[in-house]
Amino acid sequence: MITHIVGNRPQFIKLAALYHELDKEGYEQNIIHSGQHYDENMSDVFFQELDIPKPCVNLEAGGGSHAQVTARAMIGLEEELIRVNPGLVILYGDTNTTLAGAVVAAKLCIPIAHVEAGPRTHQKTNPEECNRIATDHLSDILFCPDGISMENLRREGLDGLACMTGDIMYDTYLTIAGQPDQEEQEEAIVMTWHRQENTADRARMESILRLVERLGEKVICPMHPRTKKCLQQYGLWEKAQTVRNLEITEPVGYVEMVKLMQRAKLILTDSGGVSKESSFAGAKCLFMLDLDIWGDLERIDWLHKVDPQSEESVADAQRFALQARRVPVAERPKFYGDGHAAARMVRALQEKNLI
Ligand code: UD1
Ligand code: UDP
Repeated sequence: MITHIVGNRPQFIKLAALYHELDKEGYEQNIIHSGQHYDENMSDVFFQELDIPKPCVNLEAGGGSHAQVTARAMIGLEEELIRVNPGLVILYGDTNTTLAGAVVAAKLCIPIAHVEAGPRTHQKTNPEECNRIATDHLSDILFCPDGISMENLRREGLDGLACMTGDIMYDTYLTIAGQPDQEEQEEAIVMTWHRQENTADRARMESILRLVERLGEKVICPMHPRTKKCLQQYGLWEKAQTVRNLEITEPVGYVEMVKLMQRAKLILTDSGGVSKESSFAGAKCLFMLDLDIWGDLERIDWLHKVDPQSEESVADAQRFALQARRVPVAERPKFYGDGHAAARMVRALQEKNLI
């Protein structure tokens, strides 16, 4: 039995491609959902749209601090993994669910495959960095989305476990976007906003609203529930409604999100996934975190950082936004593989006798 452990929106999107690839080859699989994300539009919608079978269990570990989520997930995972006793556990990305899965599976001596291994921000104040380092070092095989991730793992002495597969999100993106991708008309700036660094502080949130205002053009923001709750908690929710060029919606499913990105003039985000997908969809990215996650996109100034709390940086972002245009398919960067990452992962698992 191969057990996938997931719990967050981006993990469902990554899981889809690998689940279907393993299914094609007849492997027996099940899915454990930690429950870290639990709203219908943060979880169920992805299972429906991407045709992923129902998880065998939902551990309902969502809500609360890092330790609370991680600890609840660990307790539930230990029970489930002892019951199922899989031959391999597959973990995705860098969330508290990923960390919980890594610690529990390693201590039960179950081999671990880590999808999206190797990205580093080199800042331990970033919670995802802690999760990714721990998970990579507890895993038995590491699937890297890009060359920089391979190099990071080499520096940490993990190159013996690392495989360059390309990015699995590109596999899922192509199944939804169609291949070749369409070159749509540009409509608006598409925004996503949820990271701890941008939601834990009132002044920071207010500065992000001001940044949106300064960009002037229509900004569509499917809003993460965390961001909405924080705006409400800081008394900024009404203010957000008065930013006349900002259209806030509920979080959208992946099909709608891909459509939004395919029509985006520019993407404004603090999401690791969305900032990378900007290169698939042909819209450049203003990135609202001072973290170097996708170094290749940053190097060619596709991904352009903005500090909403610096006047100079906001003025620079305005210039970047003014020049932004949709980029034709042939001119989009190609740092993240060819959309066949899942097939490479299955081959690597077979070669290492892990499945
Ligand atoms: C988590 C991940 C982050 C990832 C993101 C993907 C960690 C440390 N962070 O951040 O790396 O980018 O998922 O979206 O694991 N909430 C709801 N409904 C939901 C989900 C969340 O209301 O369905 C609210 C709850 O108040 C919750 C808060 O959002 O406490 C934060 O959720 P959590 O999963 O802890 O963190 P994310 O910001 O989603
Ligand atoms: N996404 C989505 N609906 C939304 C916002 C994002 O389907 O309303 C998708 C997005 O296209 C990407 C993934 O969710 O594939 C990214 O998730 P998120 O930004 O929550 O997490 P991160 O990538 O930062 O970990």
